[in-house]
Amino acid sequence: MISLTVNGKKHSVDAAPDTPLLWVLRDTLQLTGTKYGCGIAACGACTVHMNGAPIRACMTPLSAAAGQKISTIEGLNSKVGLAVQTAWEKLEVVQCGFCQSGQIMSAVALLTTNKKPNDSDIDTAMAGNLCRCATYQRIREAIKEAAKKLA
Ligand code: FES
Ligand code: FES
Repeated sequence: MISLTVNGKKHSVDAAPDTPLLWVLRDTLQLTGTKYGCGIAACGACTVHMNGAPIRACMTPLSAAAGQKISTIEGLNSKVGLAVQTAWEKLEVVQCGFCQSGQIMSAVALLTTNKKPNDSDIDTAMAGNLCRCATYQRIREAIKEAAKKLA
């Protein structure tokens, strides 16, 4: 059994240590807001937080998540998290939606450490999150909108 904390709740998981965290989140814990895109850390669809920092759950083995604090889109209720989700709604960022929980997790991690990101901060922080629907422009605007609300 491997124990990990997800969205403030402790879980004991019966899985091999090299099981990708993404499988545990989606299949074992039924937290399906985190998506599977590429499986090779190239798209960002599976982005979650480990101790507040964005990580790719598809390439993170369960053993690396043991004893750490993991947060997923389902547990996003911080001030920054709510500001980002509100801005996303207001600016109607989402198209098909598949990439968006990963996008939001990266945006929240950015705004938690940098209250006033400029365009280049935003581009750097969001570079690993791809969007097939090309919502990049609205994502940037929504991050700025959330930053304004948090100022
Ligand atoms: S599914 Fe993890 S980065 Fe694409
Ligand atoms: S909204 Fe469709 S992939 Fe990003």
